[in-house]
Amino acid sequence: MLNYLSLITFLSILFLNNAAQIKELQNAHNANTLTTNQLKYVAGLTNTTNFNDLLDNICIPRVVGTDGHNKVHDYIVNQLEGLGWHVEVDSFHERTPIFGDLQFRNIIATPNSKADRYLTLSCHYDSKYFKEFDFEGATDSAVPCALLLNLATVMKKELAEQRNDVDLKFIFFDGEEAFEHWGPRDSIYGARHLAAKYENEFEKSLGATNLERIDVLVLLDLLGAPNPRFVSYFRDTAKW
Ligand SMILES: *[C@@H]1O[C@H](CO)[C@@H](O)[C@H](O)[C@H]1NC(C)=O
Repeated sequence: MLNYLSLITFLSILFLNNAAQIKELQNAHNANTLTTNQLKYVAGLTNTTNFNDLLDNICIPRVVGTDGHNKVHDYIVNQLEGLGWHVEVDSFHERTPIFGDLQFRNIIATPNSKADRYLTLSCHYDSKYFKEFDFEGATDSAVPCALLLNLATVMKKELAEQRNDVDLKFIFFDGEEAFEHWGPRDSIYGARHLAAKYENEFEKSLGATNLERIDVLVLLDLLGAPNPRFVSYFRDTAKW
């Protein structure tokens, strides 16, 4: 009995240490400034033709449950798989106002599925339902989706390096838009589902949940209009 208890104590300390270690590593990230040459190199990777091709395929009406939505889902998955990324689809059903039960699918992709922790770039790929007209949602959020896919394409070589500590993860959230009125039950269907799922998935070898394995999550939304302004509202993320 005593041995059993000490084993449990020992294991909890081990996990605590790991979890604490992960927190420490996460807090130790520092923002780097690129040199002019590095900046030139990165800017030189730009491919506007590729970006516009991607945007043409994504910027169509894509309300959850419609053919357009299926098409965009399949397109994003195919693009990422074509680049050799590891793609996972987190599929679930939830009741919605107006349309009743709908299937939602978050798309999660990594160039390397074996890293301990992830820097996550995310956006949503569904478009908002309007009764009176079709809505293409260019800035909301076809452009962010195209930006992520374009990044994966033009930085293919740079992202191919296998990293076991921290790597990149993309999340294309489904069902961000409300169908009727924005509220806690009618909005961010995909993000709510995935956050709850990740919170419950415990990775034993790391002593951390999949939620804790996300070092940073950046959500790209409402981008693509001229002269964007980025304002920092929160002290704890100010250094980014
Ligand atoms: C840019 O993208 C287009 C369309 O995907 C592709 O045909 C072309 O080869 C790319 N250019 C470069 C320099 O990679």
